[in-house]
Amino acid sequence: MRKLAEQVYEVGVQHWDRRLFDELIPLPDGTSYNAYLVKGSEKTALLDTVDPEKTGELVDHLVRAGAEKIDYLISHHAEQDHSGSLPDILLMYPDAKVVTNPKCKGMLMDHLAIEEDRFETVEDGQTLSLGDKTLQFLYTPWVHWPETMCTWLAEDRILFSCDFFGSHQASSSLYVENEAMVYEAAKRYFAEIMMPFRSAIRGHMKKLAPLEIEQIAPSHGPVYGNPGLILDAYRDWISDAVKHEAVVAYVSMHHSTKKMIEYFVDALTERGVKVHLFNLIETDLGKLAISLVDAATVILGSPTFLVGPHPDAAYAALLVNALRPKTRFAGVIGSCGWAGKMPEQLTGLLGNLKVELFEPVIAKGLPSEQDFTELDKLAEKILAKHKEAGIVSV
Ligand code: FEO
Repeated sequence: MRKLAEQVYEVGVQHWDRRLFDELIPLPDGTSYNAYLVKGSEKTALLDTVDPEKTGELVDHLVRAGAEKIDYLISHHAEQDHSGSLPDILLMYPDAKVVTNPKCKGMLMDHLAIEEDRFETVEDGQTLSLGDKTLQFLYTPWVHWPETMCTWLAEDRILFSCDFFGSHQASSSLYVENEAMVYEAAKRYFAEIMMPFRSAIRGHMKKLAPLEIEQIAPSHGPVYGNPGLILDAYRDWISDAVKHEAVVAYVSMHHSTKKMIEYFVDALTERGVKVHLFNLIETDLGKLAISLVDAATVILGSPTFLVGPHPDAAYAALLVNALRPKTRFAGVIGSCGWAGKMPEQLTGLLGNLKVELFEPVIAKGLPSEQDFTELDKLAEKILAKHKEAGIVSV
């Protein structure tokens, strides 16, 4: 049981050895499912629960915290890593009500078969008194499902933000200790989960601006005793500004594409463009996602597999398209044995991006001198576009 303020405790669970989320997202440092117990002078509330795999540990923590009675189970988000224990906790506290918004109520009924009479719904901005403590519910949809909301505990100036501002990191420390490490984990989390919803987040940041927040308590990762760390980071990540950087993600079967990529990376580097290079055979998708947060340009490299892109390059394109980074420019480099439709199939997978596409550079077989000249021209064009867009000073 870890204390944030008088009668406010973190009672969730660290999942130290979880290595994958959604069977997709790498978790190099595990994760946590934070749940918070707020004991008012009259009522007690539990804010979120944990992944169903860890229900037993949550129950142990509640017993140790002396939570003999819980009146309200606040559900910020229906995803099972926070809601999955609700059915068991409702059995444990038969008089408790699930307090959430109408959309989340519907999703909890769909996903967890919770009976309708166990709910009390709240509107945006509505308050709930626990006696000497007051919870205020703030709708913050799309961080990262449409029903998500936060809770503001006014008396203690704590914002309970659920996924919003979170980081996948298991830790024995309640609060952020190593700011650089948490910044990296939070950026990885933002890139993988929040990046497509930048415009919604801009609205949420405005909504939160009047609050004098002393602590941000997310449902993954450590609590921010210095909220400026994560608020400033989010302001940067959701801005329209991109950096003088290029993400180059490639796969190569017989080294033609690899030779081109290596030459191209040198060409960009000589022109002062910072490069994030990923060989897709061995890439940590989280690192690729992080690099997409800031980069002005994305280049995909692929050989022609049968008549289309290599499946690993197509997978990367699908991922980039789903994450919807603020990238301004994109292109394809690669090779073919005889012919094919690799470049157009690959760029066809990037339909969500608002990018200007460069002409692809494709070698037939081994790259020729002419192909290397085209790569120099592409690097020069990227530099020129970055200058033209004011991304780098002329
Ligand atoms: Fe941590 Fe969207 O669940």
